[in-house]
Amino acid sequence: MKTIFSGIQPSGTPTIGNYIGAMKQFIDLQESYTSYFCIVDEHAITVQQEPLKLRQQTKSLAALYLAIGLNPKKATIFIQSEVSAHAEAAWIVQCNTSLGELERMTQFKDKSAKDNRVRVSAGLLTYPPLMVADIILYQSDLVPVGDDQKQHLELTRDFVSRFNNKYGNGNQLLTTPEVNIPESGGRIMSLQDPLKKMSKSDENKKSFISMLDEPTVIRKKIKSALTDSSGVIEYDPENKPGISNLLTIYASFTDFSIPELVDRYQNSGYGQFKEDLGEAVVSVLEPIQIRHNELIDSEELDSILDEGAIKARMVADKTLLKMRNAIGLGRKR
Ligand code: TYM
Repeated sequence: MKTIFSGIQPSGTPTIGNYIGAMKQFIDLQESYTSYFCIVDEHAITVQQEPLKLRQQTKSLAALYLAIGLNPKKATIFIQSEVSAHAEAAWIVQCNTSLGELERMTQFKDKSAKDNRVRVSAGLLTYPPLMVADIILYQSDLVPVGDDQKQHLELTRDFVSRFNNKYGNGNQLLTTPEVNIPESGGRIMSLQDPLKKMSKSDENKKSFISMLDEPTVIRKKIKSALTDSSGVIEYDPENKPGISNLLTIYASFTDFSIPELVDRYQNSGYGQFKEDLGEAVVSVLEPIQIRHNELIDSEELDSILDEGAIKARMVADKTLLKMRNAIGLGRKR
């Protein structure tokens, strides 16, 4: 069976962008892959986090993984910092990655541009090698992510090919992963500025729907989503990015395709469309929220995470040992 790995940062509550771009794919993929779903808390500390809040968000994300339908009998669900191989492998990756490669990463350029050099952590620059480590430790064949992670996956593939060529003596020590971005919904846009990606760290709370937003808040945020003045529902991301983004969200939350939705709403205005979209989103998220709340402080959640960490360590430690041996670290084991 082939292997998938994916991770989400507990840097806030996931948005419907994270859900559509990544989490929703996990549910189907767990059926046909050996699956690892990680809560990447070490990634979250590349920017300042409040300790208690970080811990709460980590557990909440774990509860959400289960609440959306990930099955711990099929998939390994674990917290990154509880498997020390990630940080160790990341160091090896960093030492085999050039500064130039990291400085070219658009996410680093965007995030560091917002701040000054004194306040930007070195971890923000070396974050992609940690992501490379996450992926290679499980010899992952496929990585389901949203569009914004494409460049990090290219870096991973480059690293794997370089590492295998340099240290493999003709053997494929590490597996080259493929990226898996959903055809529709790989980049959900902000509700307030549809030219910008929806992000859980956006200061404007109206720009995103969090998976734990109350139903009344969800309906309100959709109602106030920025569209245009034409009032015609059609899919044209270039000229009508607002309504096109809402169509993508609607199709992702229901069994309707975008053309079917366009057809269905050809004689209605944005008001009716938004009202129905609000109901569609609430009807999916409400049961997830109820299950999340049952799980968040449960012993069940703790024991799933304990077991997940044990399973993940076994696999990750094996790959790490392979890497250490290949590059000559320590004594041969
Ligand atoms: P993060 O936490 O920013 O986002 C988690 C996942 O959600 C996707 N995503 C989106 N998809 C569609 N529309 C959006 N607006 C949107 N915003 C986010 C992301 O592409 C991602 O798939 N570096 C990663 C976490 C990570 C990881 C990994 C992922 C760490 N190690 C190994 C895969 C494999 C990140 O910051 O995701």
